[in-house]
Amino acid sequence: MNQPFVLALLRNPRQIGAVVPSGQSLARAMASAAAPTGKRILEIGPGTGAITNALLAEGASREQLCLLERDDKLAAYLTAKFPDVRVINGDARSIADVLKPQASACFDIVISSLPLLNVKEVDKIRILEQIFSTLDQRGILVQYTYSAKAPISPSLANRFGVRGERTAMVFRNLPPATVWKYSYPNGYDFRN
Ligand SMILES: C[S@@+](CC[C@H](N)C(=O)[O-])C[C@H]1O[C@@H](n2cnc3c(N)ncnc32)[C@H](O)[C@@H]1O
Repeated sequence: MNQPFVLALLRNPRQIGAVVPSGQSLARAMASAAAPTGKRILEIGPGTGAITNALLAEGASREQLCLLERDDKLAAYLTAKFPDVRVINGDARSIADVLKPQASACFDIVISSLPLLNVKEVDKIRILEQIFSTLDQRGILVQYTYSAKAPISPSLANRFGVRGERTAMVFRNLPPATVWKYSYPNGYDFRN
C-alpha cells in the first residue's frame, strides 16, 4: 500500500482521480513519449512521483525538471523524495502565477497526470490555457487517460491549435490507460 497516496485519496478523491498510483508500465510509457533528455520539463500532478522516477530513469535532468502538485502533503512528500528537484505546491489553474517570474513558453514538455475527466469544463479550459502558454512552440503535452476517448476533445484541441496522437495503450496498469501526446502542427501557436 502506498500510504501517502491513500491518505491523499481519502482527503480529496476527486482531485486525485485514481485509486492507485501510476504503475511502472504506464510511467515508462509516459516518459518514453516525452523523450525527456535535455528538455525543460514541467510535471503536473506528480502525486507520489512514479512518473518522475521514470522521467529521471529515461534521462531527464533534475535541474530542468519542475514538479507542480496541488496537494500540500504530497508536495512535501515529493520534496523529501526528490531533494534536488524543484517542487511547487500549487494549482495548474494558475501556472503562470506560481511560476513567476519565469517567462511564458519556458518548457519543452508538460507531462500531466491531472484527472482531466473529473475537471469541470471551465477549469479544464483554464488549465489548458495555462499549459499551452507555458509550452514552447515546439513543445509537447503528454497526458494519460483511463477513458477510451482522448483526454482533450478534438474540438478543444482545435481551439488551442494542437493535434493529439495516441502513443501507447498500457494494459498492465490498474485501470488500463492510454497515453496521448499533443503538439502544434508545423509550429502553429494559438498565442499568435
Ligand atoms: C492520478 S493522481 C497522480 C498519480 C501519479 N502519477 C502517481 O503515480 O502518484 C493526480 C494528481 O494530480 C494532482 N492534481 C489534481 N488537480 C491538480 C491541480 N489543479 N493542480 C496540480 N495538481 C493537481 C492530485 O493532487 C494528484 O496528486
